[in-house]
Amino acid sequence: MADESTLFGLRGKKALIVGGGQGMGEASARFLAHAGCDVALVDLEQERADRVAAIVTGIGPRAVTVVGDVLDDAQIPRIVAEAEEKLGGLDRMVSIVGAASWGSLLETTGDIWDQQMRLNLRYFFLMSKEVANAMIRRGTGGRIVGIASVDGQRASPMRGAYGAAKAGLISVVQTMAVEWAPHNISVNAIAPGHIVTPRLFDTPRRVEGYANSLIPLRRRGTTDDIGKAVLFLLSDLASYVNGTTLDVDGGLLSANLFPQGLPASNG
Ligand SMILES: NC(=O)c1ccc[n+]([C@@H]2O[C@H](COP(=O)([O-])OP(=O)(O)OC[C@H]3O[C@@H](n4cnc5c(N)ncnc54)[C@H](O)[C@@H]3O)[C@@H](O)[C@H]2O)c1
Repeated sequence: MADESTLFGLRGKKALIVGGGQGMGEASARFLAHAGCDVALVDLEQERADRVAAIVTGIGPRAVTVVGDVLDDAQIPRIVAEAEEKLGGLDRMVSIVGAASWGSLLETTGDIWDQQMRLNLRYFFLMSKEVANAMIRRGTGGRIVGIASVDGQRASPMRGAYGAAKAGLISVVQTMAVEWAPHNISVNAIAPGHIVTPRLFDTPRRVEGYANSLIPLRRRGTTDDIGKAVLFLLSDLASYVNGTTLDVDGGLLSANLFPQGLPASNG
């Protein structure tokens, strides 16, 4: 049995965080750093990546930054190569970038559909392939995590294209998990429920009302809730977890069993 300092098996490992400049990426960086993992923070904006890099180095491990746009296919090989070179290897990746467009399916144009697939699915496939090839070249194996959504696991009214893209991510994660297992690469997804992030915020009254009526844990999630799940899935604690989707939603999906809303009390 490992002691506390080796429990996660991440000391000296090297993780690429795609969208590491704020929100869930920042939280992932902090939790990984506390487990001794070096990180490469990929972001559109140098200042955001620098701010998180300073937090990581303050905790202890090394942090490097890579500025780039993962939605631009041509930049993906350069982004991965730069991270690998600066860190001296690559053992882990978590990919955060993604967002939903708002509108019914009847309002969704082909262009919006394509934009949602690019933003939530296509780049994840291309980045994961690039990173897996780097891991295969080094023969080290590794672990990859993609951020899906509860919207990928059931109907997603007013976010239909987004839900379809996240369902696609869950599917391709399963295929990667099977195809890359012989290379000792494990691939999993996290399906967040409703998480308060710097990009998405709400009025306290609406947040409270929503949380109390729909989320069994009676609160929206935090980016730290996601960071902890990322740490688990990228660590040795998840050594036999491959191809799964971990719901981090306070019980939201299970509460679909209660179409009339949650029971008034827990009694
Ligand atoms: N907030 C929720 O309730 C919720 C629920 C389910 C799933 N999600 C998923 O969580 C993820 C969003 O997490 P977040 O809000 O913490 O992230 P975010 O949108 O704040 O982005 C994180 C970082 O990614 C960077 N970034 C954006 N586009 C980029 C690009 N093309 N190339 C490189 N870097 C880029 C941004 O500059 C930012 O610093 C998405 O995948 C979203 O679908 C969120």
